Amino acid sequence: MALPDSIRHRFPLLEHAVYTSSCSQGALSVDVRAAYEQYLKDWDEKGAPWELWVERAGSARERFARLLNATPDEIAVTTSVSAGVSSLLSGLRHPEGRTKIVMSDFEFPTIGQIVHAQELLGTKVEHVPPDPDVTIPLERMAEAIDEETGLVAITHVCFRNGSKTDVTEVIRLAHEAGARVLLDSFQAVGAIPIDVRDLGVDFVAGGTLKYLLGSPGLAFLYCRADLLPQITPTQTGWFADEDIFKMDIFDYSPSATASKFESGTPPIPNIYAGIAGMDLMDEIGIAATEQHVGKLTDLLIEGLDRIGAKMVTPRDPAQRGPMIAVATTDDYGMVAALAEDKILTSPRDGNVRLSWHCYNSEEDVAAVIAGLERHSDLLAR
Ligand SMILES: Cc1ncc(COP(=O)(O)O)c(C=O)c1O
Repeated sequence: MALPDSIRHRFPLLEHAVYTSSCSQGALSVDVRAAYEQYLKDWDEKGAPWELWVERAGSARERFARLLNATPDEIAVTTSVSAGVSSLLSGLRHPEGRTKIVMSDFEFPTIGQIVHAQELLGTKVEHVPPDPDVTIPLERMAEAIDEETGLVAITHVCFRNGSKTDVTEVIRLAHEAGARVLLDSFQAVGAIPIDVRDLGVDFVAGGTLKYLLGSPGLAFLYCRADLLPQITPTQTGWFADEDIFKMDIFDYSPSATASKFESGTPPIPNIYAGIAGMDLMDEIGIAATEQHVGKLTDLLIEGLDRIGAKMVTPRDPAQRGPMIAVATTDDYGMVAALAEDKILTSPRDGNVRLSWHCYNSEEDVAAVIAGLERHSDLLAR
């Protein structure tokens, strides 16, 4: 059986709602529910099974590594993108004369805020704004990235408008200029295959909450192996130590691996859930999901055109991912009106965000178009 019929029955929510809010949080599967139940069972039966917890955290690390085509030593298991990126920037020292971080205007607030926090340490920050067509032009990126640039922060798919960055080209530009790249893939991981070797990217952050079908509180930071020896975070914790069981209070000796970007006790319940979510995406296939979602979003765009709705996301399939943003006069009003019709969407920046995953169907697209048409008084033209 093909997508979505092969897996819809694993998501009870789909029996009573049209779910297009995976850019906020993926739908709950029976598999992830069972993983949470297993966590409680293990707690009940084993008390405080520390060895099991450490083993589970290791499994999450392996799953993240497999997902990105990285090695487990290149992965930090964190509680959020914020925690991993903060730790990274606390230790990242740019070569002499490279005092600038370039960031796109499509970054999530946490990236913007962590990057601007570096100004307190003397770093300059340069923003690269988008064009009216809702893309960040490569020429403007190329102008901003110069011999003073230490780091370039880009987002894979923008959380506000669904615009997809030409990651390969930005990495090429940055590397040519001698700068490193931090890629925020939270809105892409699980929806778009990511291969860190193919990309040659330096750092990638993301989490399990959205298209990896896990829950909040589990994320990763990838750091390319050859960069690890150059970075010593000052934001740290005992799970970043070279030997956590040594319980040492007399020095700071962080791990030689990407565990150096970790902090305190791992988020064990979220790890149970995250592993189940990643296993499910493994079974379903991320490439198959991307293909399926591509067909659904094409169909959606046809429907939007038919009802005269204004799509904010770029039309070019190469410049969009799993989320299509539609302009409204009142994003919260539109989301509430659709929710009354049991169509779950999310608001951002004046837009209603419609995000698509392996479990969505052509009937879901038709229901969303009919819903938008019913509430067309809230559509911005
Ligand atoms: C692109 C992007 N980056 C980062 C985040 C937030 O990361 P965290 O809360 O794990 O720090 C989100 C969450 O919605 C996001 O969409």
